[in-house]
Amino acid sequence: MNKRNSNRSCRKSSSDGVAEGLESHVRDGLTGLYNHRFFQEKCAEELERAGRYRYPLSCLMIDIDHFGQVNDRHGLEVGDWALKELAGFLMVHVRRTDTVARFGGKKFAALLPHVSYAGAQTLAERLRTSMLKLRYTTHEGQAVTWSVSVGISSYPEDPIDQKGEMLFFAEKALDRAKAKGHNQVCLYDEVGKEFDKEVPSIKWEGSQMTELRRRLIDISEMSKRAYIEATKALINALEAKDRHTLGHAARVGQICVLVAQSMELSQEEIRIFEHAGLLHDIGKICVDDAILLKPSALSSGEYEEMKEHPLLGYQIVKPIKFLSEEANIILHHHEWFDGKGYPDGLKGGNIPLGARIVSAADSYDTMRLAGARYQRIMTSREAAGELIRCSGTQFDPEVVFHFVRCLVKKGDLDPSGYDQTKLNESMKLRAA
Ligand SMILES: [Fe+2]
Repeated sequence: MNKRNSNRSCRKSSSDGVAEGLESHVRDGLTGLYNHRFFQEKCAEELERAGRYRYPLSCLMIDIDHFGQVNDRHGLEVGDWALKELAGFLMVHVRRTDTVARFGGKKFAALLPHVSYAGAQTLAERLRTSMLKLRYTTHEGQAVTWSVSVGISSYPEDPIDQKGEMLFFAEKALDRAKAKGHNQVCLYDEVGKEFDKEVPSIKWEGSQMTELRRRLIDISEMSKRAYIEATKALINALEAKDRHTLGHAARVGQICVLVAQSMELSQEEIRIFEHAGLLHDIGKICVDDAILLKPSALSSGEYEEMKEHPLLGYQIVKPIKFLSEEANIILHHHEWFDGKGYPDGLKGGNIPLGARIVSAADSYDTMRLAGARYQRIMTSREAAGELIRCSGTQFDPEVVFHFVRCLVKKGDLDPSGYDQTKLNESMKLRAA
């Protein structure tokens, strides 16, 4: 796909004026595709037909990765162009019997009757690779590119009984694709298999089992939450040792949520980053109080001992199977973007995104409140200034960009109260 091919017109069901008027109620104004409500109704209808005549039906849920960030940098016009291009691609590559819709914002959906997982996966892969070739050149000569994440559910291969399940399963698969790093195609089948590994003795058969399975997934989420709640007691005990750090872990978790939301990450990623923010310093419960509470500077030996806390935290959390991603973030929350951090000296994108977010959140909260034992409390303007100053060295410029955006949005930072030039420069260096 390229810029010259833009503005393809989408087919219409009738040239009749009245019919076109009715048609406009079910069409999205920008792309000409069907809208969300029509798609939901069509999904129920198609699923009922597929069940009656016993043929496969697949659903694709497609999301443009990091769409908001591209819009922020290059303007809505560029984003709208990409939406229309993607819509055009979908219309060219689906059959007349398929239904394609703009499901909302930057999300699209397609219903493919008589297509099983294999066929849906082929189309999704073609869509994913074509999107990578899409290129927009700005007036300044800068090339803008996109990627998509795709989730697929398929009847009867997935245990789908209602239209809601078909969409729910496709959304779950999409969440999984994003959590795997975006620019991925993921089948709901993979999400289900991962859960089956956790509960290997249960065979999934029949419609009642679908509901049971969904409830068990909910219970699994609740168990995770219950574990984290229990761990909070440990964190509280740790923070109670030093009044200056009271509430630090909870605040870091909350900041992680805001930054991850600004980056338009999936709900699953946002939850993982919140947990990791909450648990990031759990390893400090193993550090000697004499070091932990020392009011003066640490000796080199003491500092080396303190530096063990990410690994200790990792070892505490790692055995809990459903917190494996959080464990990895905890291990790397003191890495630096330029590779000068610890414990592994990871650099740039090799540092897990969650660890890059926790690192900035941890430092900001320490500068603002938790570091009062060592130094004076900074204002939000001063702390944001430090994040920007260390953007590209200690911190990921993209994370700092979203961090500052959140502070401005919350009213904690005046829009003119930070060095925009320095922030933009570090973003450009990152892109280069
Ligand atoms: Fe730490």
